[in-house]
Amino acid sequence: MQDFVDSALARIHAATTADELESVRVEVLGRKGVIADLSKDMGKLAPAERAERGKFINTAKQALESAWEGRKSGFERVALAARLDAEWLDLTVPAPGRKPGSLHPITQIQWEIEDLFRSLGFAVLDGPEVETEHHNFDALNIPADHPARDMQDTFWLEGGHLLRTHTSPVQVRGMEKLGPPLRMIAPGRVFRNESVDASHEHTFYQLEGMMIDRNVSVGNLIYFMKTLLGAIFHREVTVRLRPGFFPFVEPGFELDIRCLICGGDGCPVCKQSGWVELLPCGLVNPKVLRASGIDPAEWNGFAFGLGLTRLVMMRYAIGDIRWLQSGDLRFLGQF
Ligand code: PHE
Repeated sequence: MQDFVDSALARIHAATTADELESVRVEVLGRKGVIADLSKDMGKLAPAERAERGKFINTAKQALESAWEGRKSGFERVALAARLDAEWLDLTVPAPGRKPGSLHPITQIQWEIEDLFRSLGFAVLDGPEVETEHHNFDALNIPADHPARDMQDTFWLEGGHLLRTHTSPVQVRGMEKLGPPLRMIAPGRVFRNESVDASHEHTFYQLEGMMIDRNVSVGNLIYFMKTLLGAIFHREVTVRLRPGFFPFVEPGFELDIRCLICGGDGCPVCKQSGWVELLPCGLVNPKVLRASGIDPAEWNGFAFGLGLTRLVMMRYAIGDIRWLQSGDLRFLGQF
């Protein structure tokens, strides 16, 4: 009998799985197991033998049960460790969360320029995209029969309204509302009746600027434009002025910058000329001042119209204007 107990103990110790261990338990300690069998016919034994058998059974049972429990809790520990390993979670890993969006490159450049002009004492004004003919054309010295209207064909609405073709009507609104002296910029969306291709859009962005004071000169204009361009391109830029015609400025200029790609030697971006046309500007036409109730004998000023869309395309070397309004996240995610 002791042999049987020894071999059962050995099997318990040798069990490699919880199932194996369980089958030993059933066989030895179960209701129909060997220990139960030994207890069954105890009644037939003589009292002395019975006491001895009883003692043996108790000792064996205790030994087997404690061996079994030890082994079983060993298996449980291993199982628990495996489960905890599988469930282990690194709480320091950043949550995946939502992918953060980003500002449109036109908005980014607009905000940069707004910050710069605010620091120079300019107000940032807003104006309506649906304009009156008066603000978009007449008050800017572009009467109905003027050929300049042909260059700025737009989308006409009912009641003489139109989608503004430039941000210049906000000059008029600024003069009307604030009067001189005046320093203002007006970024915004403008519209033209254009057929769309890689460099033309019916909808694009400009940033208007105007300063009215006493004795404003072309020198002041050049100073502000160089400050503006230096801040945008993060380096000093060389500029030149060519005559340019806009009915609301006199004299009017096209401001060119020395090509930043080739440094002026000539390349495809500047069409081999070494210069890139960037910014129409000029001194405010006295007729425009008068139309908004400002006396040109006392006040004068400069105005400029920066093409924000064009500027973004130059800064990031974007080859097709249509990307900017494509809404394509593969494009927008780069900024
Ligand atoms: N409004 C003009 C345009 O869109 C640009 C401009 C603005 C020119 C201010 C001179 C002064 O073509």
